[in-house]
Amino acid sequence: MEFEPKIVGFLCNWCSYAGADLAGVSRIQYPPNIRIVRVMCSGRIDPDFILETLIHGADGVLVMGCHPGDCHYIEGNLHAERKAKMLRNLIAETGLEPERMHLEWVSASEGARFAQLVKEFTDRITKLGPSPISGENPNKVILENLLAAKRTAGDFRLRVIVGRERELVEDKNAYGEKVPQEKLDELLSEAIKTEYTRNRIYNMLEKESLSVRELSKRLDLSTQDVLTNIVVMRKKGMLGVERIEGTTPIYMSLEVR
Ligand code: FES
Repeated sequence: MEFEPKIVGFLCNWCSYAGADLAGVSRIQYPPNIRIVRVMCSGRIDPDFILETLIHGADGVLVMGCHPGDCHYIEGNLHAERKAKMLRNLIAETGLEPERMHLEWVSASEGARFAQLVKEFTDRITKLGPSPISGENPNKVILENLLAAKRTAGDFRLRVIVGRERELVEDKNAYGEKVPQEKLDELLSEAIKTEYTRNRIYNMLEKESLSVRELSKRLDLSTQDVLTNIVVMRKKGMLGVERIEGTTPIYMSLEVR
């Protein structure tokens, strides 16, 4: 049977949803694979919504908002753009193709553009094939990785970097300095990698208490990497020692408040 991708579209109420409506009333044809969720602004789309949608087996997620300068909440679409950039980096870590998520601008008068973008995205996802975590036998490693990514997307440090990006790059930080874009991108990418690794460790220990060596084997990380993160996670109160086997500590996750 030919693959029919399941695509979820998050559309802002004021521009993109109206554009989709116009495509409908103008009887412009577009693939029926998209299921639309209307939100007030693209800035309202939390990375968590997108990861949750992918975890539930959607083959692709298309986010649409007003063109820059047209957002009815001034800068919501610019926030959406920054969150999408962070999310693409995060999804790339999980083994899932980051191209399964895409952001576009569509105005209320662009019914034809809406239809064209849905067609192009549907073609892209059809080429990529079904999501590895959809269907009867989801890829367990990628699924676990996406769960760790979901926890990572909620991390306070990441949210601050993404939320204050424009301010830090264009205005000044607390020390009266502008942060160069490349420096901020580097900082973001480093924060994503670190938090994602910690959340993989945390999620694994939530299911079973393990030693550093066992964690390193199961997560395909060096023992040094696991150990360094465990030291920090213990300081943050995320992990504790459940027992000692011989001389080896066996770690467990602690409830994070
Ligand atoms: Fe459309 Fe903000 S209202 S993106």
